[in-house]
Amino acid sequence: MPVLPSMSDKAATTEETVRSRLDKLRDARVVVTGGGGLVGSRLVAVLRRSGAAVTVLDRMDAYPERGHEIFGVARGDARMVIGDVRDADTVGALLREADFVVHAAAYADVAACTRRPDIAFRANVEGTQVVLEQAAKYPVRRLVLVSSASVYGDGVPGTGGPQVFHEDQPLFPVSVYANSKLWAEHQTRLMLNAASGTEYAVVRYFSVYGEPQIPKPGSHSWMVPWLSLQARLGRPMRLNGGGVQVRDLVHVDDIAEATALALTEEQMAAQTVNIGTGIPTSVREVADLIAPYFPGARRIVTPRPEGDPLGGYASTERARELLRWQAGISVREGVDRYVKWLLATPDAMPRWLSDMTDQE
Ligand SMILES: NC(=O)c1ccc[n+]([C@@H]2O[C@H](COP(=O)([O-])OP(=O)(O)OC[C@H]3O[C@@H](n4cnc5c(N)ncnc54)[C@H](O)[C@@H]3O)[C@@H](O)[C@H]2O)c1
Repeated sequence: MPVLPSMSDKAATTEETVRSRLDKLRDARVVVTGGGGLVGSRLVAVLRRSGAAVTVLDRMDAYPERGHEIFGVARGDARMVIGDVRDADTVGALLREADFVVHAAAYADVAACTRRPDIAFRANVEGTQVVLEQAAKYPVRRLVLVSSASVYGDGVPGTGGPQVFHEDQPLFPVSVYANSKLWAEHQTRLMLNAASGTEYAVVRYFSVYGEPQIPKPGSHSWMVPWLSLQARLGRPMRLNGGGVQVRDLVHVDDIAEATALALTEEQMAAQTVNIGTGIPTSVREVADLIAPYFPGARRIVTPRPEGDPLGGYASTERARELLRWQAGISVREGVDRYVKWLLATPDAMPRWLSDMTDQE
C-alpha cells in the first residue's frame, strides 16, 4: 500500500497560491458547457469569484423537479444559454467570443448511459465532437475536457482490488458511459493538436460528492447523497456485499477549484491528470460517518451484485506536480457539510425518492 497523502497537509500557503493563481482568470471569458449541473454550477461560482466572465451552455434538463434550481446557477450572474452542445451554430458563436472552455456537459450517469446508449452517444460523443470542431475553427487559449475515473474500469485485470489508478496505466472502460468518456479523451488529443490553435487539458474526476448533490432517478452512483437520503427517510442504508467497495470521494468544491486551475496552469498543456484525494473510502465507512446524524439509522447488508468492482483511488502525484494542487476537504468534513445541508434544506428531498418504496 503506498503512503497516502493527508488532507491536513494542505498548507495555508498552498491556499494562498491557489487564490492568486486563480486571479489569472480575471476578466477572462470562459464558456462552461454543462454549467447548470452539479460540478458545472460549483465551477461557475469559482470562476465568477476569480473575476472571469462566464457563459453557461446547458440543456438544463438532467434533473426532474427542482434539481437544476437547487444548484442555483441561473440565480447567479453568469450568462445562461439554454441549448445543446450538438448545436454547432450556438457553440461556434460562443467560442468565437471566448478565451477558455470547460467541456463538462455529458449524459453523466453510468446506469442511465447503460439504459440509453443512444442518448449517451449523442451527448457524450456527438456533443464532444461538435465542441472540438468549433474549438478548432474558433481557437481558444485552452479547452479543459472533463473526463472520469471510470475509464480505468476495474483496473488492471488479475491485480485484485482496491487499486491505485495511475494516469498512464492501461484503460479498460466497462460501461457505455466510461467508453464515451474515453472516446472523448482520445478525440480531444487527436483534434486539439498544435495545428488547431487550441490547447487542451484532460481532467479525470474520481467520485464527486457534496452539497447540493441530489441523485438522479434510477442512478446507482453517488453514495454520499444516496445513503444520507435513505437515512433521512428512516430507511436502512444498504451495504451491498458488506460495503467493502472503495471509492475516492472528492468534494465538489475541490473538483471546481482543480478544474479552474487546469485552465491556466502552464504545465497542464496537453496533459491528463487525475482529480481525486488519493484516499480510498469504503461504502461502510461512509455509512458510519452518516449514521450519527440520524438517531436510529440502520445499516443492512445485501448481496454484492455480480461484477460489482472493489473500486480504486487516484494516484495524485501528477496533480500535485503539474496542477500544483491537492484536495483540501476530508471525507469526514465533506459528509458533515452534506448532511447538515440536507437537514437544513427539506425542499431538497426529491418527491420521486420519498414516493419510492423501501424495496425499489
Ligand atoms: N459527478 C461525478 O461523480 C463525476 C465523476 C466523474 C466525471 N464526471 C463528469 O463531470 C461532468 C459534470 O457531471 P455532473 O456530475 O455535474 O453531472 P450533471 O448531470 O449534474 O451535469 C451535467 C450537465 O450537462 C448538461 N447536459 C447534458 N447533455 C447536454 C447536452 N447535450 N447539451 C448541453 N448540456 C447538456 C446537463 O443538463 C447537466 O446540467 C460530466 O462530464 C461527468 O461525466 C462526474
